[in-house]
Amino acid sequence: MTQAGVGLKIIGCGSATPTQILTNEQLSQIVDTSDEWITTRTGISQRRIADASQSLTSLAAKAAQAALSKAQISPEAIDLIILATSTTDDLFGSASKIQTLIGANRAVAFDLTAACSGFVFALNVAASFIRSGTYENILVIGADILSRWVDWSDRTSCILFGDGAGAVVCQATKQGDRFLACELYSDGCQNNCLNLSYQSESYPLVDSLEIGKGHFHPITMNGKEVYRFAIAKVPEVIEKVLFKANLKVEEIDWLLLHQANQRILDAVAEKLNIPPEKVISNLKKYGNTSAASIPLALDENIRLNKIKPGDVIVLAGFGAGLTWGAAIIQWGE
Ligand code: COA
Repeated sequence: MTQAGVGLKIIGCGSATPTQILTNEQLSQIVDTSDEWITTRTGISQRRIADASQSLTSLAAKAAQAALSKAQISPEAIDLIILATSTTDDLFGSASKIQTLIGANRAVAFDLTAACSGFVFALNVAASFIRSGTYENILVIGADILSRWVDWSDRTSCILFGDGAGAVVCQATKQGDRFLACELYSDGCQNNCLNLSYQSESYPLVDSLEIGKGHFHPITMNGKEVYRFAIAKVPEVIEKVLFKANLKVEEIDWLLLHQANQRILDAVAEKLNIPPEKVISNLKKYGNTSAASIPLALDENIRLNKIKPGDVIVLAGFGAGLTWGAAIIQWGE
């Protein structure tokens, strides 16, 4: 809480996924892999893939509209839109286009990139704006279409990713802060473990002046290093947020980690002594949807009536950067 006593509550959640499904069986027709290998090493069975008619903006706008409708708030009431994504339609940003698509005419809108940690980072930015009294209603979207950036000949990474979008509406409240704690981290020393990078080549422009002209290369990943990083850093950051919020592990109702790999979810839960029934997992159906994975799973479990008002949820994101972070929220008003 700030001195003014303003806190944050989440008043609505929504999500959207493409209808096309790519199964492990189909993947084994593209690269040398098998359903058995993918299932045992990752827990993923299928993923959703956007077709050419879909855009990051359209998917994100659909999730945003669902969240607004659940929150029963008009788009004009939104003050700020934060779009967490690494796969924007436009390098200048896609948030403004979403603002127009959903009719949030008053809102300021910007993109935020922190890969698979993006949603947790964006939620923390929203909390800061709300607690400072700058904005009252903030739409936070996590959306990614990684299928467009995957190297479909690299069996070590193409099996992991899928497309999706999720969104939440955050609102200022003076009746108790529901954003209990948050911690964010970055470590550029391990930046080369997971990249979707621009590679430039020398291009003569005029006289002796040259520019670096090039293009983005598909995702490269050191899976083992990312795995090690996740199971070391995620439990650590969760312990830190629990300490900050003055909560014990037993007081957590749900552990909602970025949906990267079932083995990572299991290892983190085991390290923290959190029983499997408290671990939210939907990666079997969607794979790793990057910034979308946490709000997508949150929305699904609210619709299934599993997450109930008052429940304490630990969210943790981790991924390229490397970046990682955790937040504790309490569901409901
Ligand atoms: N199908 C079949 N075999 C595969 C394969 C695939 N899709 N991908 C790799 N293999 C092979 C490897 O070539 C290797 O063969 P070898 O022993 O003959 O050399 C063997 O399987 C084991 O590979 P390894 O890399 O040790 O597997 P792993 O158990 O570490 O699992 C990942 C690989 C990618 C699933 C795992 O490291 C992981 O999930 N890492 C985290 C990645 C992640 O979450 N990234 C996103 C973070 S946001």
